[in-house]
Amino acid sequence: MKKILVAGAGGYVGSVMCREFLKKGYHIVALDRYFFGLEKLADLNEKNLTIIRDDIRYFDEDVLKDIDVVIDLAGLSNDATSEIDPAFTKAINCDGSTRLATLAKKNGVKHYLYSSSASVYGFSNIRYLSETDKLNPLTEYSKSKVAVEKNLMALYDHNFNVTILRNSTIYGLSPRMRFDLAVNIMAMRGCTEGIIYIMGDGMQWRPFVHVKDVVEAFRLCMENPEAASGQTFNVGSNEQNYAIGDLAVYISDLLEDTKTIHIPDNQDCRSYSLDFTKINRVLGYNTRYTVKDGVLEIKEALKKGVITFDDPTTHTLNWYKTLLYWESKMNNLKVKDKIL
Ligand SMILES: NC(=O)c1ccc[n+]([C@@H]2O[C@H](COP(=O)([O-])OP(=O)(O)OC[C@H]3O[C@@H](n4cnc5c(N)ncnc54)[C@H](O)[C@@H]3O)[C@@H](O)[C@H]2O)c1
Repeated sequence: MKKILVAGAGGYVGSVMCREFLKKGYHIVALDRYFFGLEKLADLNEKNLTIIRDDIRYFDEDVLKDIDVVIDLAGLSNDATSEIDPAFTKAINCDGSTRLATLAKKNGVKHYLYSSSASVYGFSNIRYLSETDKLNPLTEYSKSKVAVEKNLMALYDHNFNVTILRNSTIYGLSPRMRFDLAVNIMAMRGCTEGIIYIMGDGMQWRPFVHVKDVVEAFRLCMENPEAASGQTFNVGSNEQNYAIGDLAVYISDLLEDTKTIHIPDNQDCRSYSLDFTKINRVLGYNTRYTVKDGVLEIKEALKKGVITFDDPTTHTLNWYKTLLYWESKMNNLKVKDKIL
């Protein structure tokens, strides 16, 4: 059975992926800084799980020695966080991922799968962009994705399979819940406040995909290396392209007593809708979940108290800012490297 190193294993996608892949009998080496807490994987008391708390910029390459597949999910995972300091974004998202891939190749890893983003398309009036359409990255985050895609394709050869997955904006439940993602935040606000905010004019397009369907796309690519090697795939489904205003109205209709409010002042200029024919044609991939499934599972989890809006780790930007604030506070307080 394959041994897979998942970088970013403690994140929103990673903590779902580890669970799904362990069920399938894979051995997982879960490398992460665990910025959102090691407890996201803590309930997994599995003999096939090895947890490594380390950084993709500095980890010891020995951990790659007997690994068959590397899945790279690690890094600063949204636009806002990637704008805190572009130098961090370059060092982690771009140089860190490139280092991980370079060391993977050097140590005989056969397949490298990279979690890119649909946001590499940035803005386009063309409906249903395919993988060969022009990229238009507008933010530090999406520029880092484009740079890594390019570096990975330069490393790709007959000994080192590379697959790039350009994921749509993800929704659905995860042990490391994220409320900075459109469907999740709309469902949360609709359930708790009865209000869904539409940022901008609501005409901007985005594709969406359930977190379990993302994990399934990685699994299919990993289990079909010949078909997936050297390929870039948009991950999602044509039916889940939404204009943000329509998405908000759709979600408010799914929930009781929920209205939508426009917040016209919005800095975000991105708008793109994607075509997902290629991943279906090459790998037979189809999504199994819908936005409705995601919203209803979030509603249920809120009702049962499994997730709460108050959990500070669910707000990605604020959580990283909080960590940086406390790092600086602690450094100023320490004497002889100690607080007390
Ligand atoms: N969630 C989405 O909607 C979405 C959409 C498209 C692409 N992606 C990409 O998928 C990947 C996973 O996203 P996610 O939603 O799980 O994000 P996430 O923030 O929940 O997970 C990222 C993980 O990387 C870890 N990490 C950060 N810096 C690290 C470092 N230097 N070394 C080791 N670990 C580090 C964090 O601790 C975290 O657990 C990211 O590359 C993201 O850009 C996500």
